[in-house]
Amino acid sequence: MNLRPLATEHGTQVTRQEPPLTAKPPGSAPGPGFVFDDGAAYELVMGRWSALVAEPFLHWLALPEELAWLDIGCGDGSFTEQLVRRQAPMSVVGVDPAPAQLDFARQRTGTSHVRFLVGDALALPVPAASADAAVMALVLFFVPDPLRSVHELMRVTRRGGTLAAYHWDMEGGGFPLQPIIDAARADGYKPHQPPSAWAATLQSSQALWREAGATEVETCQLEVARGFDSFDSYWHTAQANPRMRDLFASLSPAGLQRLSERVRERLGASDDRPLVCTARANAVKGRRP
Ligand SMILES: C[S@@+](CC[C@H](N)C(=O)[O-])C[C@H]1O[C@@H](n2cnc3c(N)ncnc32)[C@H](O)[C@@H]1O
Repeated sequence: MNLRPLATEHGTQVTRQEPPLTAKPPGSAPGPGFVFDDGAAYELVMGRWSALVAEPFLHWLALPEELAWLDIGCGDGSFTEQLVRRQAPMSVVGVDPAPAQLDFARQRTGTSHVRFLVGDALALPVPAASADAAVMALVLFFVPDPLRSVHELMRVTRRGGTLAAYHWDMEGGGFPLQPIIDAARADGYKPHQPPSAWAATLQSSQALWREAGATEVETCQLEVARGFDSFDSYWHTAQANPRMRDLFASLSPAGLQRLSERVRERLGASDDRPLVCTARANAVKGRRP
């Protein structure tokens, strides 16, 4: 894999990949449900990461202004807001099954013209061929049947329109809180995986898009960096992640302290110095013929 990591918060490296067309069947056991019941907490821990990926992702899509967009699994609107800022869309519809996320999305300053709907990626509450571009930002690995959701993307996209997604490179260690997962694993903890983590690889994403009938399918990796004031700020932020909740709740105060020290060592972080962390997303795009 030919990646060059970034040193700054604003820089981003895009690397095109041409993986073999082999979708991995869903072999991993589904983890317990990931609950998105707190939009403010989501924004702190993950929304800001997603907003960082949005910029290079939209640049890579290279789509014109004034399109009709559909943002599936829009969550708290972190990607949606970037979309509005950067693409001057004609219209945006955001769909998510979690009311708490949508509540947060609706009160963002940049989303006042967005129509937010409660709905599921497997049965979108919008008409066929109603979008010029349909996207899923950090969603595909949560959907129980990824191929069906890509068929839904095809259904709602007009002919010649674009369907695209990005998701953390889970297998390649690109998840933003990977240092905590690695430290916990070293202590015997088995972290929960999103139910369709297998779909997040470049190979699987490409195969899913092709199998659903998309043409001009391309993938790339997007690496982003986020600054924190200190290790404590990073650690505090991580507490709000749904994937970390069970882990942190299961540890004694001493166990939590030990984990925090191990993560700090992995990051080479100190209490009073700013910290820069990186994360990597896999992105896929294609056209509806
Ligand atoms: C990691 S968040 C991503 C939110 C937002 N797109 C972003 O970039 O920050 C995942 C979102 O997917 C939503 N989600 C989970 N299962 C879904 C499904 N079957 N259909 C649509 N959205 C789903 C969750 O409610 C959550 O808001």
